[in-house]
Amino acid sequence: MPTPEARVRELRQRIRAADHAYYVLDQPLLADAEYDRLMRELAALEAGHPAFRSPDSPTQRVGGTPGDQFQKVAHREPMLSLGNVTSDEELDEFDTRVRKLLGASPETSIGYVVEPKLDGLAVELVYEQGLFTHGATRGDGTTGEDVTANLRTIGRLGANRGVLPRLKGKAPPRLEVRGEVLLQKAHFEAMNHRLVADGDEPFANPRNAAAGSLRQLDWRVTATRPLSFIAYEALGPDHPALAWKTHWEKLEALSDWGFEVSAENRRCAGMAAVKAERDRLASGRFDFPYDTDGIVVKVDDLDLRRRLGAASRTPRWAVAFKYPPQEEATRVTRIWASVGRTGRLTPVAEVEPVRLGGAMVARATLHNEDELRRKDIRIGDWVLIRRAGEVIPEVVKALPERRTGAETEFRFPAACPVCGAHVVREEGEKAWRCTGAACGAQLAGQLRHFTQRRAMDVDGLGDKLAAELVAQGLVKDFADLWGVPFATWQALFSRPRKEAVEAGAKRTPAELPEKAAQNMLEALARAKTPTLRRLLFALGIPQVGEATAGQLARAFPDLQALLDAGEEALQGVRDVGPEVARQVREWTREPRNRAVVARLLAAGVTPAAEQVDARGPFAGKTVVLTGSLSGLSRDDAKAEIERRGGKVSGSVSRKTDLVVAGEEAGAKLKKATELGVKVVDEAGFLALLKDGR
Ligand code: IVH
Repeated sequence: MPTPEARVRELRQRIRAADHAYYVLDQPLLADAEYDRLMRELAALEAGHPAFRSPDSPTQRVGGTPGDQFQKVAHREPMLSLGNVTSDEELDEFDTRVRKLLGASPETSIGYVVEPKLDGLAVELVYEQGLFTHGATRGDGTTGEDVTANLRTIGRLGANRGVLPRLKGKAPPRLEVRGEVLLQKAHFEAMNHRLVADGDEPFANPRNAAAGSLRQLDWRVTATRPLSFIAYEALGPDHPALAWKTHWEKLEALSDWGFEVSAENRRCAGMAAVKAERDRLASGRFDFPYDTDGIVVKVDDLDLRRRLGAASRTPRWAVAFKYPPQEEATRVTRIWASVGRTGRLTPVAEVEPVRLGGAMVARATLHNEDELRRKDIRIGDWVLIRRAGEVIPEVVKALPERRTGAETEFRFPAACPVCGAHVVREEGEKAWRCTGAACGAQLAGQLRHFTQRRAMDVDGLGDKLAAELVAQGLVKDFADLWGVPFATWQALFSRPRKEAVEAGAKRTPAELPEKAAQNMLEALARAKTPTLRRLLFALGIPQVGEATAGQLARAFPDLQALLDAGEEALQGVRDVGPEVARQVREWTREPRNRAVVARLLAAGVTPAAEQVDARGPFAGKTVVLTGSLSGLSRDDAKAEIERRGGKVSGSVSRKTDLVVAGEEAGAKLKKATELGVKVVDEAGFLALLKDGR
């Protein structure tokens, strides 16, 4: 019989593993009844032995069953907001005010820390004895909502380090960490794609998506959203570990405890340096992984900060410089329905070009017919358009006060504007779909999907060229690409590019028709040996994104076997549920699709198995993963090892070559030590991954 204490530990570990498998990996480990039994046993042990109770026990998960409201929690110290400035003059005024309040001479320069203003939502995380006990939204600044259960899931998908279950290193008795919950742009897009594929509504921008994901009443939903947490503030009751002299030291401490802090934070001596930093962040922000809507300027010296204090809602030691909004007014010159690769019709507004978020914008999406009606956008209307991050610009609303009466309504087409086939809108669908089997727009869209960088990677084949190849009848299916002769490519590249000519642009050498045609043939030759994963993704099989393509390629290294696999065999593949299996099978069974694949192979396209490194540190090795990794999910870790020729096993034995021990590693780590198996921690593991690329 294990001691009650050991049993408690074991139960917690098993329940956590089961939670992760169920909610994050979608691969249940335990039957419901068994899970409930473990939970009850744990609750009983904790009730009988109060000393074993712990705020991070699975039994303590507030909101473990969804309620209809969040509990309110008071912040020990108010969560203030920031005063806004938008010009250099106002920044100078802030600096002058700071110096005046401190009685400093105009010559003294104040040290500031400049941070990007992250466009997510502020939360507070409370750590007691180094353990995450609860967390809340900002709310009205005094009282927030308890979203502890939701916060616990952040980072489990590996988007970033997330909300740490426990702090690394020495921790004070109590620590309050503040920061922003957000969705990185790439994760936002992937998540929106998934939502759309599942028939749900996409979010308008990463901020809304982050807020909507965090404020779910059911934490199981939050667990599926790849949220990130970035820390920017730490406080707590007096303790030597919190005796920082500067804000910068605080940021360093946050990073040492294991949190992500923004890589863009900088120390600046004086306002001139702050402004230079503002310029750097403002122009670089479109390349940051997440959206920022300004900068935050904070007095670095904490002693000065205390002396400055706060007004009723905003501190006197910090200010936000907000970027001008990424919203512009312009006029709609035309509305049309664009047809995508799946036949979906999307209303698009052509607008008079305006500068928005660092780029010229000439068209904006109206999403779907219902949105178009709801917003009542007419041809000729003045509208507001918005660009959020990398997302396609969208029409926010019409400005009816600027109507002249000459505006006209757009009639949604009753037939496909490209091929004339009839369009259908199935029940529960938001979009109309073209039913044409040989629709040129669909084919052009598929061709673009096929050749994109993440798929077959045919450099130089953009939207316009794809449309032209289809319109001229040069490409009827993918394989035709390899049959287009040099002279035809040359002719295609000789057509004057209208916009370029209008803008007075000169052709660069790569754009000379002959050179461009040569480059295209070379790109096509290179594209003949994709990995099987890329080829499967490129084919545009319904429900098969990059990740699923990877799993399919791993399970069926032989393409023909995959084409012949029945639904049952497909369901045996990780990440493939009954619905995906059904849709994949439907696709592989269709003779037209099989013919497309056969023609590709006949054209010389030879998919290769994933590259496996035969010499790296993982080649031929058996690895066991245990404990939780903060930087990447267990699935990703497994995939990385397998890609390097290693095997991941579930239990430690004499045959194990290496154990990767994350946080809270338990029995397996102990066994590895007993058997003398090599053990690395997360940092060591990451270093090996880098080595063995
Ligand atoms: S410091 C009193 N730092 O801005 C100090 N806030 O208007 C306020 N925010 O609710 C927090 N990035 O959501 C701070 N680097 C950053 C920030 C930041 C974004 C948000 C935060 C806060 C709001 C204040």
